[in-house]
Amino acid sequence: MDTIAPSGLQPEERASSCLQEDVPSDSSELVQKCLQQFKVTRKQLQQIQVSLLRSMEQALMEQNNPAPAVRMLPTYVGSTPHGTEQGDFLVLELGATGASLRVLWVTLTGTEEHRVEPRSQEFVIPQEVVLGSGQQLFDFAACCLSEFLDAHPVGNQDLKLGFSFSFPCHQTGLDKSTLISWTKGFKCSGVEGHDVVQLLRDAIQRQGTYNIDVVAVVNDTVGTMMGCELGAGPCEVGLIVDTGTNACYMEEARHVAALDEDRGRTCVSIEWGSFNDDGALGPVMTIFDHALDYESLNPGAQRFEKMIGGLYLGELVRLVLAHLAQHGVLFGGCTSPALLSRGSILLEHVVEMEDPFTGAAHVHAVLQDLDLSPQASDAELVQHVCAAVCTRAAQLCAAALAAVLSRLQHSREQQTLQVAVATGGQVFEVHPRFRSILKEMVMLLVPECDVSFIPAVDGGGQGVAMVTAVAARLAAHRHLLEETLAPFQLNCQQLIVVQAQMREAMIRGLQGEASSLRMLPTYVRATPDGSERGDFLALDLGGTNFRVLLVRVAKGSVQITNQVYSIPECVAQGSGQELFDHIVDCIVDFQQRQGLSGQSLPLGFTFSFPCKQLGLDQGILLNWTKGFNASGCEGQDVVCLLREAIGRRQAVELNVVAIVNDTVGTMMSCGYDDPHCEMGLIVGTGTNACYMEELRNVASVAGDSGYMCINMEWGAFGDDGSLSMLSTCFDASVDQASINPGKQRFEKMISGMYLGEIVRHILLHLTSLGVLFQGQQTQCLQTRDIFKTKFLSEIESDSLALRQVRAILEDLGLTLTSDDALMVLEVCQAVSRRAAQLCGAGVAAVVEKIRENRGLEELTVSVGVDGTLYKLHPHFSSLVSATVRKLAPHCTVTFLQSEDGSGKGAALVTAVACRLAQTTRV
Ligand code: G6P
Ligand code: BGC
Ligand code: BGC
Repeated sequence: MDTIAPSGLQPEERASSCLQEDVPSDSSELVQKCLQQFKVTRKQLQQIQVSLLRSMEQALMEQNNPAPAVRMLPTYVGSTPHGTEQGDFLVLELGATGASLRVLWVTLTGTEEHRVEPRSQEFVIPQEVVLGSGQQLFDFAACCLSEFLDAHPVGNQDLKLGFSFSFPCHQTGLDKSTLISWTKGFKCSGVEGHDVVQLLRDAIQRQGTYNIDVVAVVNDTVGTMMGCELGAGPCEVGLIVDTGTNACYMEEARHVAALDEDRGRTCVSIEWGSFNDDGALGPVMTIFDHALDYESLNPGAQRFEKMIGGLYLGELVRLVLAHLAQHGVLFGGCTSPALLSRGSILLEHVVEMEDPFTGAAHVHAVLQDLDLSPQASDAELVQHVCAAVCTRAAQLCAAALAAVLSRLQHSREQQTLQVAVATGGQVFEVHPRFRSILKEMVMLLVPECDVSFIPAVDGGGQGVAMVTAVAARLAAHRHLLEETLAPFQLNCQQLIVVQAQMREAMIRGLQGEASSLRMLPTYVRATPDGSERGDFLALDLGGTNFRVLLVRVAKGSVQITNQVYSIPECVAQGSGQELFDHIVDCIVDFQQRQGLSGQSLPLGFTFSFPCKQLGLDQGILLNWTKGFNASGCEGQDVVCLLREAIGRRQAVELNVVAIVNDTVGTMMSCGYDDPHCEMGLIVGTGTNACYMEELRNVASVAGDSGYMCINMEWGAFGDDGSLSMLSTCFDASVDQASINPGKQRFEKMISGMYLGEIVRHILLHLTSLGVLFQGQQTQCLQTRDIFKTKFLSEIESDSLALRQVRAILEDLGLTLTSDDALMVLEVCQAVSRRAAQLCGAGVAAVVEKIRENRGLEELTVSVGVDGTLYKLHPHFSSLVSATVRKLAPHCTVTFLQSEDGSGKGAALVTAVACRLAQTTRV
C-alpha cells in the first residue's frame, strides 16, 4: 500500500494505493498526521451543519437541481404517540443492527404507568442471505417469525405486525414502502424498487404457518422516536447510530412539498447517511475514508454514514493501524493477514479498546487475535486511533443533529428550542464516550437549543408497536369505511338492472299501466325549427332560483333578460294562493323594471313539478317535490292558479300560453341550436328527464304518427320499491326525514337537495363507529342540511388539496385530522359517483328506447342538460357520459349544457304554440 495510483486498479490495490502519499520520515509526525486527519474543526462542523440544513430544505421543497444530498422521506407518521394506543403487536426489525433481525411481541397497555416487558428473540442472518436473493431474505424473515411464534405461543389472536425496515424507502402509505437502495452491507437482489411490505406479505404467505397481517412499515429512526418514554414529553427527533446512522424528526406538514398537507406535523426520515456534499465533507474525508468507500459494497454512496456508522468505525481503525504498521510506526512495522483483511476489527473491538479502564488490556487481546504482537507503546497509540475515529464520528453526528435542530427552529419560527431526541443503536449503547461527545458538540453548535437525549425503550420495538397500533386503528377504520361505502359502489350488472327496470317502467307508464314512471305527455310535439319570432315572458319555478324572463326571439338570435327572485320557504310551504300571488308580484316587479307594464306578452311557465297536462296550457299538479308543499295546489291546474292570481291583481294582464316542465324547457332551449336534441335532463335540486317519444307509443294521447315530448318524472322511479335492492340505510334516513317520505326515491339518490344529507348521515354513522373525528359527535353534524351538496362539488374538485377539504369542514365547526379529511372526501366521491351512475343508467334507458323506437343500429342524439349539480360538480357529467357509453354502446350521445336555462325553452314552446295558433287562425 505505498503509492496513490490512477483508477482501474482492483479495490484493494486502489485502497492500498490511496493510502500511499508523501509519507513523512519521522514516525511521531506520521502518527500526528494520521490522527490530525480525523480532527474536525468547529468551523468544518458548522459548514457540515449549514450544508446539511440547506440540502434538507432543498429536498423538502423537492428542488432537484442540483440533486439534494439527503432524501427527506415522508414516513406517513403524522403524530407522536398519544399513549392511548393499546393492544398486542408483533414487531419485526430488519437491518438496524447489521446482519441480524429481531422479532418482538409488544403489549401496549394504553397507560404510562403499566408497562409490559416485550418478549423478543434475535436471529443472525447468514451472509449468503444478506447478499442473496430478496426472496431468500424475506423467506428467512418469515421463518423467524414462525419460529418466534412457535416459541412464544400467543393464542389465536389477530397477529398485527409492524415492520421496522432500516433502509431508505419511498413510502406511499403506512403499509406501502419501496426500497430505494440497500445500505450497511445488505445487497439482496430483486428488492430495490419493490414494495418491501408486499415482499414480506408474500413470504409470510409462502411460509403459510401463521396468518400475520403486516399493517405498518417504519424506519428504525421513527420507531426509536415513537418509542421514547412519554414522561419525558414526546420526542420529536429520532436518532440512530448503529451499524448505520440516520435521523428523523417531526416537520411542519406544510413544508413537505411531497405531501398535500398544510396542517399538523409529519415525521420525515432524513437519510443523512447519503449526505455527501463534497464542499462540506471533502475537507474532512481522510484517505482512509476513501479507501473504505472504495472497498465497500456501495462505493460513492452513504459516505457520511461510512464516517459514523458502527459497521465502519472498526474498519477505519483497521485501515489506520494497517497504514501505520506498514510505515513501521506500529507493531514494529509488522502486519498480519488478519490486520490486512477487511472487517477484522469490529465496533465491539473499538469500544473495548477505548474503554478508559480496561482499554489497554483489550488492545493487547484484540491485536493478538489479529496475530500481531503489540509492543507496550502500541496500545496507547491504538487507543488514540480508536478515539480519533470515534470522536470524529460523534462530532460529525453532532453537526448533523445540529442541522436538524436548526431546521426545527426554522420550521417553527422559534429562536430558542426545547426538544427531546430519542437515541438508539449500538454505538450509543456501547460506546463509552459517543453520547457525551455528541451532546457537548451539539451544545456548542446550537447553544440556543435545550436538548434532552432519551434512550429508546427496547431499541424502538415499543415505538414500532405504537406506529403499528396507529396503523391498525387506521386500517380498521379504513375497513369500516369501505364496508360502509360498499353499497354505493355500483357494478355494471347492477346498473344494467336499473336500466332494464327503468325501460320496463317507461313502457308501463306510456301504456297507462301501474308504474313509478308517470310518463306525462307534455303536448310539445316538435322541437323548435328556428322560424319562431316575437317577445315572450317566461317564468322559471322549481329550481334553486325563481326567475322571470323576457325572451326576444328574432331571426337566428334569442335575447334574454331575466331577474332572479327568491321563494321563501314559508311561501313554498305556505298556501297556494300566497305562492301564486308572490309569483305575480315578481312578474309585476319585472315588468316595471323592464318597462313592460300593461303589456300582455304571451307567457311560458316553466313549472318544474309533476303535472298531468291536458294541453299545452293545462297542467294538473300531481304532487309537490323538492321541498315545495304549498297547500291547495295538488290536483289543481296550476295555469288556472296563476291566472286567478293575475286576476286578483288589478291592472295586470298576462297571456299564459304554455306550461312546460324544466326538462322540456331545457330540451327546447338546446334544441334551438341542435336539431338532434331530443332529450332534456335536469340534475339540480331535483332530477328528471323528458324525451321525444313516438306518439303511437303514448296510450293516453290519440294519434299514431309524429312525436310527443314525454315528461318521465323519473324522480319517482323506484317509489314502487323497485330500487330497494340499492337503497341503503342512509337513503332511508334521508327519505324518512323528508317532507315526502316514500316519494321521489330515485331523486333522493341523485339530486342536489339530498346528496349532502346522505353524506351527513354517513359521516354521523362513521363518527359513531369512532372512525371519524375521534368518535366525537358534534352538534353541527347533527344539524339537518348543514352539509350542503355544493360541499361535495368543492371537496371533490381536483384542484382542492386536502387542506381545503379541512377548511370547509372546519368552517362547519368540525375538528379533524387529515385522515378524517381524506375519508370525508371518499364518502363524497362514493355518494356522487353512485348518483351519476344511476343518472347515466336512466339516460341509457331513454336513448336506447329512442334507438329501438326507430329501429336504428346506431343512434346519434343530443341531450339538453341543466341543473346546478350537473353543472358544478367536477366529475358528475363525465361519470354520467361514461355510464351511458357503457350501457348504450350503440348510441352516440352528446350532452349540451343549457346556457339560458329552461326559461328560453318555455318561451320557444310558447312561440311554437303562438305560431301554430296563428297558422290555424289564418
Ligand atoms: C335551470 C333551469 C330551471 C331548472 C334548474 C334546475 O335553472 O332554468 O328550470 O329547474 O336549472 O337546476 P337547479 O340546480 O336550479 O335545481
Ligand atoms: C439506512 C437508514 C437507517 C439507518 C440506521 C441507514 O443505512 O439508510 O434507513 O435508518 O441506516 O439504521
Ligand atoms: C320534479 C320534476 C322536475 C325535476 C327537476 C323534480 O322534483 O318532479 O318535475 O323536472 O325535479 O327540477
